[in-house]
Amino acid sequence: MLSIAITGANSGIGFRAARTLAAAGHHVLALCRDLGRGRAALADINAHAPHPATLIHADLSMPDSVKAAADQLAQSVGHLDVLINNAAVFDQTLREPRFTADGHELFWATNHLGPFLLTAHLGPLLAAADRPRVINVASKGLLSTPRIRIRFDQLDDPSWYSPTRAYYHAKLAQIMTTLTLAEKAGGCLEATCVRVPAVRLDPDRVAAMPRLLRVLYAPKNRMAAPAERLGDTYARLATWDGSLPGPYVDEHLNPVRAPASAHDRTARERLWSLSQTATGAPAWP
Ligand SMILES: NC(=O)c1ccc[n+]([C@@H]2O[C@H](COP(=O)([O-])OP(=O)(O)OC[C@H]3O[C@@H](n4cnc5c(N)ncnc54)[C@H](OP(=O)(O)O)[C@@H]3O)[C@@H](O)[C@H]2O)c1
Repeated sequence: MLSIAITGANSGIGFRAARTLAAAGHHVLALCRDLGRGRAALADINAHAPHPATLIHADLSMPDSVKAAADQLAQSVGHLDVLINNAAVFDQTLREPRFTADGHELFWATNHLGPFLLTAHLGPLLAAADRPRVINVASKGLLSTPRIRIRFDQLDDPSWYSPTRAYYHAKLAQIMTTLTLAEKAGGCLEATCVRVPAVRLDPDRVAAMPRLLRVLYAPKNRMAAPAERLGDTYARLATWDGSLPGPYVDEHLNPVRAPASAHDRTARERLWSLSQTATGAPAWP
């Protein structure tokens, strides 16, 4: 039985992965931002789980919440085999940038700084596992922006913001962080990033959209892959026997090439260093 923490476990892909892994007998630590939605998801996850999943509150946009979640996790398990950084904000109705109390743009804070800090805080628990793994999540949509790079001098600058740009920017950071983490861990930890294609959103997500967006989104949602399929992808990676298939893989676990700028080692080091500074220089084991 593996101990597997997954963020955004109450919805979409994260929920399917959590349910599959729990049904297979693993101890799932379900990190959810809303405890009400989390409890509802856990009732479903635990209906077929030999070992009940543990619900942990975590708002990834808030460093204090991330720290509290890591502390609670440490009280629940002695080691962590797998961390799946799945949760993300991609709300296309956020036409104007929002900023956290720390002054970070919301997509950057939630989709990059939060997972970075959570991974660091969970470092000691991961280090205590025999074969620890970190699974990050990016988007196939990045193929539409092959020249994307980190805007080092414009982070949190509203001038270039659109929800799509902010989203892809943070997803590029996920790929780069995965590559750097794997290098820094030097064989003590495996890290991979999944390139997720368009995936069908849960009905409640679609229902919450404004009418126009709902209409525009309907054809894409019909064509998109079922969330169960990507849940299986996460579950296969989490329980993969042997070395992971690559640092950046598609939904079938085939290695794929990351955007060119992700291969720039200097840029990756710079990203790591600024992420350290922005998250209060957490200690890594
Ligand atoms: N769906 C797609 O077409 C697609 C395509 C490419 C990549 N992806 C990626 O796949 C992953 C899963 O997406 P999905 O399709 O399963 O979407 P989803 O159903 O909307 O799930 C997103 C999850 O992230 C959580 N979340 C959002 N903001 C959070 C915060 N501040 N703190 C903690 N949790 C937060 C949500 O919690 P709440 O329930 O509280 O909102 C929800 O559980 C994401 O990383 C996404 O970027 C999805």
